Amino acid sequence: MYSEKVMDHFTNPRNVGEIADADGIGNVGNPKCGDIMKIYLKIENDVIVDAKFKTFGCGAAVATSSMATELVKGKTVEEALKLTNQAVAEALDGLPPVKMHCSNLAEEGIKAAIADYYEKQGRSTDEVFKFSGFCSSCDCHHHE
Ligand code: FES
Repeated sequence: MYSEKVMDHFTNPRNVGEIADADGIGNVGNPKCGDIMKIYLKIENDVIVDAKFKTFGCGAAVATSSMATELVKGKTVEEALKLTNQAVAEALDGLPPVKMHCSNLAEEGIKAAIADYYEKQGRSTDEVFKFSGFCSSCDCHHHE
């Protein structure tokens, strides 16, 4: 049911942990299952130089977070904001449809961490919130 890439990133996840001096931290929850995710980003001149995650989530959430953190490293924050959960799932050779909601955690965690980075710099977070599935009016970061 899972691709080899999903199994690889689940059994050997990349970038698990914390970044002590992170420039942006995203804390999100998945309303469908109650699982939670924390993403840490180290950002220099708007380029993501390091990314780590911690999750209390299922295997698909672990695999997508592992892949998503790999994909955003080296990208600018603007490029990272365009990373969709579909793109992350495709990079893993697909997820079963019932597990697609799990990939929202990684996408939203990254967006929340970038929003935190913008806020810390006193910049507007409008750019972050214009992306779908991300809500500026409450803390849940997830509206469908
Ligand atoms: Fe909750 Fe997958 S079941 S993130």
